[in-house]
Amino acid sequence: MDSNRRPETMERITTKELADKFIAEQIEAVRAQVGEKKVLLALSGGVDSSVVAALLIKAIGKQLVCVHVNHGLMRKNESEGVVELFRNQLDANLIYVDATDRFLDLLAGVSDPESKRKIIGKEFIEVFADEARKLEGVEFLAQGTIYPDILESIKQAEGKKAVKSHHNVGGLPEDLKFELVEPVKLLFKDEVRVVGEALGLPHAMVYRQPFPGPGLGVRCLGAITRDRLHALREADAILREEFDIAGLAGKVWQYFVIIPDIKSVGVKDESRFEGWPAIIRAVNTKDAMSATIEEIPYSILNKITARITSEVEGINRVLYDITPKPTGTIEWE
Ligand code: XMP
Repeated sequence: MDSNRRPETMERITTKELADKFIAEQIEAVRAQVGEKKVLLALSGGVDSSVVAALLIKAIGKQLVCVHVNHGLMRKNESEGVVELFRNQLDANLIYVDATDRFLDLLAGVSDPESKRKIIGKEFIEVFADEARKLEGVEFLAQGTIYPDILESIKQAEGKKAVKSHHNVGGLPEDLKFELVEPVKLLFKDEVRVVGEALGLPHAMVYRQPFPGPGLGVRCLGAITRDRLHALREADAILREEFDIAGLAGKVWQYFVIIPDIKSVGVKDESRFEGWPAIIRAVNTKDAMSATIEEIPYSILNKITARITSEVEGINRVLYDITPKPTGTIEWE
């Protein structure tokens, strides 16, 4: 039987009881697969890799080596949160790599979106491979592959074209050969979340909004500069805080800030001030193939605008993108 095909008889995991059963089975399967050997995992802090990490910590404890690569394009306090949860609370074997300078130096002056994505994806693999080479006795690589990824690969193998190149840890260099451990590869996203909660991961992490692999890199439009990236990170943090306060955080599928590489004239402290606009995007979707716009109340937009323009250096306007997908993709790059 093809182990990459979900059996028709497989029950949909919708309850804690079913999740617990799945977890117990996977713990057995992982232990049988890896024995006493070490397993490496790229832990981004996203739902899928976090659930796999929590599952493997239960199954094999310190035999799991998690590597968190901070590419300098994470949201505010995101990497710190991954370290706090996995190293300090779950006692994981976690290597934290701050590769901010490596990524931002490579990206300097690069404005083409697909080139940016490729640089980020390639460098991510290189940083991860560098860490893997330093370790000894690792024969397995765990991945947060889920069933839609498998279905997408099948589609691509059949010759259908992807709109944007998405990245994960696939394509490691030739000298690094690992056997894969993919405990959630037959699950759909909603099932991964049920499993994550059954494993005791925080609700906010398990239900967090999707965040693209290239991170803020595709929201700091054109050639990334450190000052504009900083402004983006701060503005995005304010947006997320205000969505939390307004009770929109669990309701809206994805919401974030984009900063284009243009300036407009504004006024601050009675003098002319050229600044960037912060663009807000808040969308709802089922499968990310099409999306509708969340109608954020004006009072909330006003508050967000007042905070971003007064608290974030370099920003003098706030715009709200009301374009559905199509014609706009969810991300701007
Ligand atoms: P678009 O912009 O294509 O986005 O409408 C659809 C969904 O995919 C996410 N996205 C990415 N995720 N790597 C990822 O892991 C990427 O390069 C990437 N680009 C877009 C996007 O955030 C949205 O949820």
